[in-house]
Amino acid sequence: MSDSILELKNISKWYESNPERKILEGLDLQVNTGERFSIVGPSGCGKSTLLNILGTLDTPSEGAVTLNGVATGGMSEKALSAIRARTIGFIFQMHHLLPQCTALENVLVPTLALGKEVNPVEASERAFDLLKRVGLGDKVESNPGQLSGGERQRVAVVRSLINRPKLLLADEPTGALDEDNAHRLVDLLVELNETEALSLIVVTHDMDVAGRVGETRTLKNGKIVPLS
Ligand SMILES: Nc1ncnc2c1ncn2[C@@H]1O[C@H](COP(=O)(O)OP(=O)(O)O)[C@@H](O)[C@H]1O
Ligand SMILES: [Mg+2]
Repeated sequence: MSDSILELKNISKWYESNPERKILEGLDLQVNTGERFSIVGPSGCGKSTLLNILGTLDTPSEGAVTLNGVATGGMSEKALSAIRARTIGFIFQMHHLLPQCTALENVLVPTLALGKEVNPVEASERAFDLLKRVGLGDKVESNPGQLSGGERQRVAVVRSLINRPKLLLADEPTGALDEDNAHRLVDLLVELNETEALSLIVVTHDMDVAGRVGETRTLKNGKIVPLS
């Protein structure tokens, strides 16, 4: 059995508004259990497009995506979102926290997608433990408006972990943070990768952030190439 949790084969992607422009073209990428790397490239080169396909939030124009050994091709959106909710955690540049909810409530939002499978008491305990672990034990009842930018993004990290995903996808996770908070956030993601049996992909245009993640790959001419 392969320990690949996600595999892209011969992926191409163009948008209907401009079919001439191939954002991705003949791209292959395999993500193995527990590995981590960053994907770098200038703004507009297709990093978010790629991450959305990796996360099954968007479909490729051509090519195959295999998630956890299952081809996602002909799957219904319902079946796909069920697998996605269990397998993948997302972190974006903007935290997208619900402003009227506490940090703890925000962290529990993804558990709603799992319905009756989730034990609410256990989920709350895990949320509380994770918030403590990222230094927010005294902020569980705070609303996002009462938190700093770095604290909000750490809540978003905890939210991405609550369903015990196998893969964490982060799209410019430090884009809205100052340098100190950016470093702290990347170090947290790396620590989670090392301690939680979690694969991690960080997409960034920031070489400093990429260097902290470790292995770096480049998105160039629609394909993934090693950093040269
Ligand atoms: N929904 C869309 N419709 C049409 N063009 C898009 C769409 N999303 C992104 N693009 C275009 O695809 C290219 C790559 O965008 P993106 O993946 O966001 O790049 P990056 O994340 O590297 O900055 C850009 O030229 C962008 O304008
Ligand atoms: Mg982007």
